Amino acid sequence: MIGVETLDEFVIRKQTEYPYARGDLSRLLRDLGLAAKVVNREVNKAGLVDILGSAGTTNVQGEEVKKLDVYANTRFIAALELGGQCRGVASEENKDFITFHDEVSKNAKYIVALDPLDGSSNIDVNISVGTIFSIYRRVSPDHSPLTLEDFLQKGSQQAAAGYIIYGSSTMLVYTTGYGVNGFTLDPSIGEFCLSHPNMSIPKTGKIYSVNQGNFLSFSEGLKQYLRYCREIDKPTNRPYSSRYIGSMVADIHRNLITGGIFIYPGTADAPKGKLRVLYECNPMAFVVEQAGGRATDGARRILDIEPGELHERTPIFIGSEDMVLKAEEFLRKFGGC
Ligand code: AHG
Ligand code: MN
Ligand code: MN
Repeated sequence: MIGVETLDEFVIRKQTEYPYARGDLSRLLRDLGLAAKVVNREVNKAGLVDILGSAGTTNVQGEEVKKLDVYANTRFIAALELGGQCRGVASEENKDFITFHDEVSKNAKYIVALDPLDGSSNIDVNISVGTIFSIYRRVSPDHSPLTLEDFLQKGSQQAAAGYIIYGSSTMLVYTTGYGVNGFTLDPSIGEFCLSHPNMSIPKTGKIYSVNQGNFLSFSEGLKQYLRYCREIDKPTNRPYSSRYIGSMVADIHRNLITGGIFIYPGTADAPKGKLRVLYECNPMAFVVEQAGGRATDGARRILDIEPGELHERTPIFIGSEDMVLKAEEFLRKFGGC
């Protein structure tokens, strides 16, 4: 096609820019793109399933949502196994990591951490959901079985990371550490096409995203920051607008484009918050940092966390640099995370 670069073309073009790249990572990214198209097809049918379901049993919607979590998990893992460039996967849907044992995957250098369907409780009400992925080079010796250490790497070691958002259009956004590029799925040709080259997040914004239903269990620092967000102060564009979809991928994607901060803090009951380091916070932090933004747990850089377990959680403050810095300032001053 004239004037449109597909994800596959882009990935190959980028690979040729790095003389020592062997193409394994490029193939892995293309495998993820393929799985995304298959999952997209099913996600788009969810509304139809709901219409049929509403005429029948009442709990079908809940079950469908669960089915889609499992479906997305199965499809992504199958694509990675078939593709042969991935040695194993850690997924939100699986307690332990999975190792691939077929002849081709045995030689693979990469491992993937995956949230197959993020925000899946939104699916039955037709709100955007996503897939988040994080790719690492394995650290244990080639050809030997994978170990937990292959997965418990710091986010700064990621070889690539990104997300797919199944929204009003479907987009795949990723980084390999050389900037961020976004591709929109053109359903008429079934290809992700480069639509958002070199994405960069505004240094500041006008949107804050946090579940304010939990306000009373927030730290004093965060409460004070949220009060600051609501104050009237024309020169600093306040009050900010509150926007919270409850789908991390969609909230962060919007803030990446328009500027803003997304917060999922620790609370008294859950000091480490809700979101998982490996397959939610690290990949989103890598993308946002590569777009010029900032991602911390309120004090420490997300990408410097040394995870102790596969499903470890962390508080997260992520988005426009100036907004995250300001939130950190309040946490330092009034305490909390
Ligand atoms: P998942 O569907 O993968 O379990 O993740 C949902 C997450 C995330 O997308 C969102 O930001 C957050 O949960 C919303 O949580 P609250 O309902 O507690 O705000
Ligand atoms: Mn999630
Ligand atoms: Mn999920």
